[in-house]
Amino acid sequence: MKGILLAGGNGTRLRPMTRIVNKHLLPVGKYPMIHYAIAKMAEAGIKDVLLITGKHSMGLYAEYVGSGACWGVRVAYLLQEEAGGIAQALGLAEPFVEADDKVLLLLGDNLYEDSLAEAVAAFKQREHGAHVFVKRVPDPERYGVAEVENGVITRIVEKPQEPHSDLAVTGMYLYDSNVFQIVRSLKPSARGELEITDVNNEYARLGQLTYSELRGWWTDAGTHRSLLDAGIRLLGEEEA
Ligand code: G1P
Repeated sequence: MKGILLAGGNGTRLRPMTRIVNKHLLPVGKYPMIHYAIAKMAEAGIKDVLLITGKHSMGLYAEYVGSGACWGVRVAYLLQEEAGGIAQALGLAEPFVEADDKVLLLLGDNLYEDSLAEAVAAFKQREHGAHVFVKRVPDPERYGVAEVENGVITRIVEKPQEPHSDLAVTGMYLYDSNVFQIVRSLKPSARGELEITDVNNEYARLGQLTYSELRGWWTDAGTHRSLLDAGIRLLGEEEA
């Protein structure tokens, strides 16, 4: 299984710091944000990671992450000229993934307490499909929201004004290699992006989308408040 780590974007919600440095290099506790994402992939048993980011901070990523040896993984880098959505960035990884391989896609600003090793090991045994990780949240309208019937996700709605559940779809996704064919069939959304939610809905339509509910803490550290909260929490853990 290949790890695809998205560390691009303009980080508009975290300005002004993101004018000088990419969001995923901002400090969370002792480490730059990207550190946790690579550690999470390593913990899940991933050996090969493709880090996708823009020109802005590519050199800084090479300096901090290097070959990935410090986490016991091999890191390769791919330059994204322009941000066009999560699914667009995922599509760039196609040449990196063999037809019989699978991928774990992780958004670099999503921080997880739970280990994902078990779910990843189970997904490796599956023939095909996709798997997402959901978390109950008080503010689902900020996320992709899963609608579940009889233990099955029937659809995901991206940032609904009136959410039908409190299940946020978090930024970690498992896919078979058919995902690239699905990405190629996508049309840009109203915000002009290729949406990962559209990819997941296609798997739901095919009856191939499964999910796990996270038990531990999770955050999307993409705002000043969530970045600060994550820093306080992870620094506490590191000092404990
Ligand atoms: C993206 C996804 C959304 C998901 C979120 C998790 O949102 O589109 O479905 O819930 O990541 O962090 P974005 O960060 O692009 O607004």
